[in-house]
Amino acid sequence: MNLWADFLTNDQRTIHKWKHYFPAYEQHFGRFVYRPVVFWEIGCGEGGSLQMWKRYFGPHAQIVGLDIRPQCSEFQEDQIAVRIGNQAQKGFLDSVLDEFGPPDAILDDGSHRMDHVIATFHHLYPRLDRNGVYMVEDMHTAYWEKFGGGLCREGTFIELCKHLIDELNGVHARIATEFTNSTLSMHFYDSIVVFERGRHGIRKALKVPRPRNRE
Ligand SMILES: C[S@@+](CC[C@H](N)C(=O)[O-])C[C@H]1O[C@@H](n2cnc3c(N)ncnc32)[C@H](O)[C@@H]1O
Repeated sequence: MNLWADFLTNDQRTIHKWKHYFPAYEQHFGRFVYRPVVFWEIGCGEGGSLQMWKRYFGPHAQIVGLDIRPQCSEFQEDQIAVRIGNQAQKGFLDSVLDEFGPPDAILDDGSHRMDHVIATFHHLYPRLDRNGVYMVEDMHTAYWEKFGGGLCREGTFIELCKHLIDELNGVHARIATEFTNSTLSMHFYDSIVVFERGRHGIRKALKVPRPRNRE
């Protein structure tokens, strides 16, 4: 199924997405299509994106929407659960983790406040499935003052990501962390950051073909 075509022809609940996000969605979430994925979307809006993810991932998917507004509970239907709480509160996130288990993929489209995005990431990223995907969208807000953003301003999610690039390469910089050991890649798009988790093999540079023994 083509997610972009599905979005354009949506006639159910309203979805609110920037059009240039769709190639990134397909790139990073495509491998979960028709799989028994547990997919969290933080920020339910008007409920249409939850339905879009359900159509995209197919009959085995469990979609979990998290939102601070109690009225979002009405978006619940088969395969779509909604839990009400603040994305920045660990207790709320833990209750959702306890109920649904480690998510395979998380999309943070919630408050977009820098302190919230960072608190949510710090708590959920280590608890994501070890081969999971974590995506944060609308990161233009990392440059907007009313969300706690600003160019090169300390405390934004983009500034955190700049440090995480060093951690991704932490083995070579001798600062390896849990993030280093559990993260395969980071991806940056206009307004989107993606983290792909996975197990590293032994890092080893090879030369092939092997040099022949001189006789
Ligand atoms: C941009 S809308 C989500 C749009 C929706 N995902 C879509 O694509 O159509 C942001 C949502 O985040 C929710 N939100 C705001 N602050 C929040 C918080 N602290 N915790 C959880 N959700 C929050 C809002 O109630 C709103 O529904």
